[in-house]
Amino acid sequence: MIKKLVLSLSLLCSGLLADAQTTVLNIKPAGEQTVSKHIYGHFSEHLGRCIYDGFWVDENSAIPNKGRIRLDVVEALKKIKVPNLRWPGGCFADEYHWRDGIGPRNQRPKMINTNWGGVTEDNSFGTHEFLELCQMLNCEPYIAGNVGSGTVEEMAKWVEYLNFDGTSPMTAIRKQNGMEKPWKVSFWGVGNESWGCGGNMTPEYYSDLYRRYATYARDYAGAPLKRIASGANADDYRWTETCMKNIGAGRMWGLTLHYYTLPTGNWKSKGSATQFDEEQYFNTMKNCLRMEEIVTKHSAIMDKYDPKKKVALIVDEWGIWTDVEPGTNPGFLYQQNSLRDALIAGTTLNIFNNHSDRVRMANLAQTVNVLQAVILTEKDKMVLTPTYHVFDLYKVHMDAKYLPISFSSPDYTLGDKKIPSLNVSASQDSTGAVHISLVNLDPKHKISLDTELGELKWKTVSGQILTSAKLTDVNSFTEANKVHITKFSGAKKSGNNLKVELPAQSVVVLELK
Ligand code: AHR
Repeated sequence: MIKKLVLSLSLLCSGLLADAQTTVLNIKPAGEQTVSKHIYGHFSEHLGRCIYDGFWVDENSAIPNKGRIRLDVVEALKKIKVPNLRWPGGCFADEYHWRDGIGPRNQRPKMINTNWGGVTEDNSFGTHEFLELCQMLNCEPYIAGNVGSGTVEEMAKWVEYLNFDGTSPMTAIRKQNGMEKPWKVSFWGVGNESWGCGGNMTPEYYSDLYRRYATYARDYAGAPLKRIASGANADDYRWTETCMKNIGAGRMWGLTLHYYTLPTGNWKSKGSATQFDEEQYFNTMKNCLRMEEIVTKHSAIMDKYDPKKKVALIVDEWGIWTDVEPGTNPGFLYQQNSLRDALIAGTTLNIFNNHSDRVRMANLAQTVNVLQAVILTEKDKMVLTPTYHVFDLYKVHMDAKYLPISFSSPDYTLGDKKIPSLNVSASQDSTGAVHISLVNLDPKHKISLDTELGELKWKTVSGQILTSAKLTDVNSFTEANKVHITKFSGAKKSGNNLKVELPAQSVVVLELK
């Protein structure tokens, strides 16, 4: 009997201990480093239903729109303060000829979107429409120019059309098309994935081409370009090394990096967006956390050639890439978005915030109806995904001062495998409020945190949480609000320390004032 009691007591204790992961965090005061708002950028390609159906509706559509741009989508994106929007691709950018997308719509030539489903692109959404969208969103445009199949002249003329405020052949056409003044576009991509769909180039060849294209993409009065070189795929460190060496820090504002989280790690069978077990969840998060290593290693190479960190590392494509939803066009990359995706977004944005000395811009792929979308649409209906809610929670970090954090994460273990369960970032805004974003990846264990804030003085704490009963929970057109933000009351003040009970599988953002 006594033996039995001891056994059940010890089982109970081990259960309690397993339930109570603990750690101590230390947050230091701000220095000079800022978390650029452009880390919270988005990406919209002519791919599947992103532009057409996502942003852009038919001429006689009953869906509320202004000049064919959907107003529900615009309002939702304004709420998360989208700072910049990348367009027209992706792979599409290197087959896009901008002059096909200006002038009277009924006279615009059509083309085949060879990258994405072989569908006919009618070019009804072009330069003017994109820049009108950016104006409605109050965000900066980020245009990717065509290096793969376009000429230097074509790119040079596009920049003249967009940015020159004087008399010239291109500005005459712009004015004829209804735009008197230049838009003054600043973020300028010189190609996309030039190692792959953008021309299958070597880094040596691309570096030379970059120098040539970038030379004739001119700075016009009041409109200096931030030229962005097409960077590496995932852990292709040789690409970064070669670009840094051959292009040189003085010739580019930024160098890109693309890294996608694949649940299985296998491009042929990536895994479902909605049906996965814990094993697959664990592997997905492990793949997501690789972003930390990848960004660290690319940054270290950049440091060698650019110790003053003038060139930004721009992660202008990131997110989870799963198999498409059953029954949808495989070329359209339409996938649902679960609580798992929200944890990926929270984790990745924490990584970027913590590397904001070098990562000064990033773009989630993609805004509407494609890959890790923040918005899904179906005719007149619109759903905000769990990922959308993370961007809503994290917008407090935009342009705030970075706060360094140290801690040792508890482990999330599955069988004999383990990954860190906790990731965090913190910033202080211009009013002095401190924001801490915490992600607990462990689906079974909460984490008890004791946070030392040293010189950072504060009086009150409030918070918001995103979680749900199941990792596979999604927001659908029949249940649009299943995964949503609620008030978080698991944080309290103890002296100048902050104590937090962080629930399993959750994203929490705290505000200390
Ligand atoms: O985001 C989808 C595609 O992924 C982009 O077009 C391309 O750049 C990348 O391979």
